[in-house]
Amino acid sequence: MTNNFSNPDFPKFLENYIGKVKDRAKNFLGYPVSIDFNYSDLFELLNYPLNNLGDPLIESTYDLNSRSIEREVVKFFAEIFKAPKENSWGYVTNGGSEGNLYALYVARELYPNGMVYYSEATHYSIQKNINLLNMPSIVIRAKDNGEMDYEDLKDAVHTHRDRPAIVVANIGTTMTEAKDDIAQIKKALKNSAIRSHYIHADGALAGTYLALLGQGPKFDFENGADSVAISGHKFIGSPIPCGVVVVKKNYKDRIGQAIPYIGTMDTTITGSRNGHSPVFLWYAINKMGLDGLRRRAEICLDVAEYLESRLKEKGIDAWRNDHAITVVFPKPKQEVVVKWQLASEGNWSHIICMPGVTKEKIDEFLKDLNN
Ligand SMILES: Cc1ncc(COP(=O)(O)O)c(C=O)c1O
Repeated sequence: MTNNFSNPDFPKFLENYIGKVKDRAKNFLGYPVSIDFNYSDLFELLNYPLNNLGDPLIESTYDLNSRSIEREVVKFFAEIFKAPKENSWGYVTNGGSEGNLYALYVARELYPNGMVYYSEATHYSIQKNINLLNMPSIVIRAKDNGEMDYEDLKDAVHTHRDRPAIVVANIGTTMTEAKDDIAQIKKALKNSAIRSHYIHADGALAGTYLALLGQGPKFDFENGADSVAISGHKFIGSPIPCGVVVVKKNYKDRIGQAIPYIGTMDTTITGSRNGHSPVFLWYAINKMGLDGLRRRAEICLDVAEYLESRLKEKGIDAWRNDHAITVVFPKPKQEVVVKWQLASEGNWSHIICMPGVTKEKIDEFLKDLNN
């Protein structure tokens, strides 16, 4: 048997691979991921197997963890999402998809016969999670800008008014960054006198900066959300995908059991949990502070406005939703799509003006559009 796994050329392979990563990071405009972070102060921690297994609030016999830091991160998000002080709970997830899964899990435990409603512009993780949880669901039409069609929601909810309603509100759809308005969702529920309901806000991309800037339709706990999930590697930035989910504590208390082997409660989706990503998020939040994070968001909006107007000046049919850093435009030629890693759906592509995307980068992209 040949030993293909100890290739003497592997250092060269690694060098090439790192070169490729650096190169591809130069033309990264289509996905909602920040590329401007510098976590070199934390490199020493990569020598340790940090694992936050179990509940972030309950210490475990596995003491090589970042649980106390994770709690600070969750507290930060609970505050910006105006979660009830004495009645909120959350944890650092592997990303927005896991946060959505957790929220739907909590909703299902609360309303086992609930019907889930979500718009056709919703991220694919919601459909997948609904399948995993075996929950009945109805897809609601989306308007051209990607926002939920509230009339369609009203009709669907009315048809199933005998069941509790679990509604997913997109706080920034994946393709057009449209925001579903929780006030309109609540109106549709009230119209059919549905008292038993649960609203989950999927704020993967836009949730963090809209809450920081206080812009757009209100989606926090004070305005009707029962849970909020975000991705940490998006607006804040992290080399490892991660996220945060915040739920009402009394809902979450229906989940989890004590596990003697780890000496804590098993209240999260996975067993072992990444102990490094909470440290990245915590470091970024502390380093930038609220003002720095707000400034970061304002720069993204400014770059998005710049891109939208430059494209329009060229006669390109570009547009973006209110308070969005995502600019949508007709799909350009394939070479440009590949070079700039533009996510595309049908005839449309988008650029997401994430932290790290500069006006100079936009100018480089615009030059390619001309060629
Ligand atoms: C609206 C929305 N929800 C959820 C997700 C999933 O987030 P993650 O990739 O962090 O799992 C995304 C990812 O782009 C998204 O756009």
